[in-house]
Amino acid sequence: MKRLIAPSILSANFGNLAKDIEMINNSDADWIHVDVMDGVFVPNISFGFPIIKYVKKLAKKPLDVHLMIVQPEKYITRFKEVGADILTVHLEASPHLHRTIQAIKSQNMKAGVVLNPHSNVSLLEDILPDLDLVLLMSVNPGYGGQSFIENTYDKLEQLAKLKAKRNPNLLIEIDGGVDLSNASTLFNKGANVLVAGNTVFSSDDPANTIQLLKSK
Ligand code: DX5
Ligand code: ZN
Repeated sequence: MKRLIAPSILSANFGNLAKDIEMINNSDADWIHVDVMDGVFVPNISFGFPIIKYVKKLAKKPLDVHLMIVQPEKYITRFKEVGADILTVHLEASPHLHRTIQAIKSQNMKAGVVLNPHSNVSLLEDILPDLDLVLLMSVNPGYGGQSFIENTYDKLEQLAKLKAKRNPNLLIEIDGGVDLSNASTLFNKGANVLVAGNTVFSSDDPANTIQLLKSK
């Protein structure tokens, strides 16, 4: 089973972003996780198109763009233009999710849906066959460095069962509070992609931490 690591640049050093992207390029990381926050859907603002364009210029790995914004369907083409390879939208921000997913795929990006901690996995049952990816938030979105919500394990088990029934090729991604103590349980319960911000960028040797997470 696939085991991928996606370091989140939300915790990178924006005073020298090129250095952190280079570290990711030379590490065992598989994707670069890019958190876009609008200050409306979540109580924080991160960064937008110019930064993503810059990251894309330097990146040797796919950009996994996580939209924490209202009306994400308005900006699908723009995110494609600045270099998104995978685009994920929140269920909670997408009343016409099916249409939005088709629009992402029509731009030749992988399409994913994100669930906040309170949203039940069963809400995805009908859309699951259309998805490349489901991202389970294991913290409330908005900030890096928060503690992992334990209920995520139950949600992951439910989603793994649904995946077996409805879409065996689906990738399951976990985002928030991932560290060296929970990575192996998450992989063993069916996670394919682990996002890690604080754990990677606050460590003394980020590339080594990526390798350790991956080998869990
Ligand atoms: C939170 C973001 C996460 C965040 C994860 O809203 O979606 O991607 O960067 O950070 P850590 O790994 O520090 O919890
Ligand atoms: Zn994220």
